[in-house]
Amino acid sequence: MITLSAVTKSYGTGADALRDVSLEIGKGEFVCLAGPSGAGKSTLLRLLLREDVASSGQVLVEGTDLATLGREARQAYRRTVGFVFQDFRLLPERTVFENVATVARVMGQSRAHQWRRASSLLQQVGLQHRMESFPLQLSGGEQQRVAIARALMNEPSLLLADEPTGNLDRALSIEVMDIFRTINASGTTVVMATHDQDLIAYVNRRVVQLQQGQVTDDRRPE
Ligand SMILES: Nc1ncnc2c1ncn2[C@@H]1O[C@H](COP(=O)(O)OP(=O)(O)OP(=O)(O)O)[C@@H](O)[C@H]1O
Ligand SMILES: [Mg+2]
Repeated sequence: MITLSAVTKSYGTGADALRDVSLEIGKGEFVCLAGPSGAGKSTLLRLLLREDVASSGQVLVEGTDLATLGREARQAYRRTVGFVFQDFRLLPERTVFENVATVARVMGQSRAHQWRRASSLLQQVGLQHRMESFPLQLSGGEQQRVAIARALMNEPSLLLADEPTGNLDRALSIEVMDIFRTINASGTTVVMATHDQDLIAYVNRRVVQLQQGQVTDDRRPE
């Protein structure tokens, strides 16, 4: 599903954020991206979301070279991807429900469908009672859970998550991982960056280790 071939990403400042990274991720895999701060994890996720392009090398998703996508194709591509990023990116002037449902609205789904799915996801992340709140009225962990519900709203074929449990306690982190495992079992490919070794052990799936922009280890559980 995803093929990175000799991908280098330079921001033009200091060392390359990614250096000659080649990686294949199959459809339906659950991959944890591990590695210290500055290793290149977020950079790799941003390339997969096509928020940024590689300086050299190729990023292919389902056979499409993401660098070749024009504006509209890029938007269409992003609608097939769910993402949870470190800074949540919620719309402050929209309610929790609207933040989660927007994707479905853009895709022309009925209000009834939006309501059912958004309520069900918000319930799964324990926020059904905050549907009418605004993001800034929520704690960091609550905002993170709204972002997770939003990412799952359109049943994405690819879920990208950058430290999705960074603001959550252990019990909530485990619940979020269980939601990810369920969506992965239904066919969604998951790529998740995390520092959290306990979480990586709990997930117990493929782990790609990055260090100074390079893949230093890539292992699957026995
Ligand atoms: N927009 C940017 N402009 C310049 N340099 C950047 C930019 N974004 C990231 N970098 C640099 O690229 C390298 C990789 O950063 P990246 O954010 O991908 O690391 P990370 O593994 O996600 O780290 P963390 O665990 O702290 O989130 C770092 O050296 C960082 O300083
Ligand atoms: Mg990061």
